Amino acid sequence: MRNLVRENRLHPGDLVLPMFVAEAATEPAPIVSMPGVYQHTQQSLARAAEQAVQAGVGGLMLFGVPARRDAIGSAADDENGVLNKALASLRRELGDDTVIMADLCLDEFTDHGHCGVLDESGEVDNDATLARYAQIASAQAAAGAHVVGLSGMMDGQVAAVRAALDTGGRPDVAILAYTAKYASAFYGPFREAVQSTLVGDRATYQQDVGNRREATRELALDVAQGADMVMVKPAMACLDIVADVAAISDVPVAAYHVSGEYAQIEAAADRGWLDRERTVLESLLSIRRAGADIVLTYYADYAARLLNR
Ligand code: PBG
Repeated sequence: MRNLVRENRLHPGDLVLPMFVAEAATEPAPIVSMPGVYQHTQQSLARAAEQAVQAGVGGLMLFGVPARRDAIGSAADDENGVLNKALASLRRELGDDTVIMADLCLDEFTDHGHCGVLDESGEVDNDATLARYAQIASAQAAAGAHVVGLSGMMDGQVAAVRAALDTGGRPDVAILAYTAKYASAFYGPFREAVQSTLVGDRATYQQDVGNRREATRELALDVAQGADMVMVKPAMACLDIVADVAAISDVPVAAYHVSGEYAQIEAAADRGWLDRERTVLESLLSIRRAGADIVLTYYADYAARLLNR
């Protein structure tokens, strides 16, 4: 009876697996603060991606860790850059078996670690960054991304990227907009995962944790600019925001169960303080119940296997 009347369910096809590929890696390198998650080589990425697709995950979100960084993040739109090479080889191998998403941002590629380029005073230059995002979008589309994930939180980023894709003959490439991305402490382990060089914080472009109404304003802007999907991040710390956005969005809503949320469960499960399986499935189902259609989680492959059992 419980099963029959359950309002929300988890399905592997709703889950998206974020993955890291590192140019300097010669073998998969464990990320200490995210046990079970690796910086992949191109080869190990392909194997792990294939396994996740076999388990039924709905998509993959790729992040690149380049060997060299500079002020404008040149490697991000270089066709031989680590992320673009990974996109191309995964698309060759997997075709349309899954949805291949590319993180579209500069922070992994800049030597200062910010999500945009800087002006002379060292502040993030919003509009100069949009021009870079447009170039990166074209490169990622050419490499084979089905979806570009705009995680930089620059104003106008969706419109700039939509225009670049359309004028570049790629109206088929979809935009996942990080609509409400909070300046969160829960991204801590991710900074290790991408070997971030950031000094300071992202408070000038990411959302203030104290703000709720602002998220729906961001939603309206992103949808008006052409977002095909919108995202709230982090997920567990922002279930109110997920619910607000889901209540009014007319495009699919994603939520990102981020690195710190993963690390919390792993640390407690490791000590025997939490039951890993139950905690993972409850966390992901709670995000769905709040209203997310799609959940990005480092547990995507793990949870898909549990659900398939
Ligand atoms: C940056 C980016 C971050 C994450 C995804 N893209 C970090 C940040 O904004 O500082 C975090 C993901 C996670 O913590 O799992 N473009």
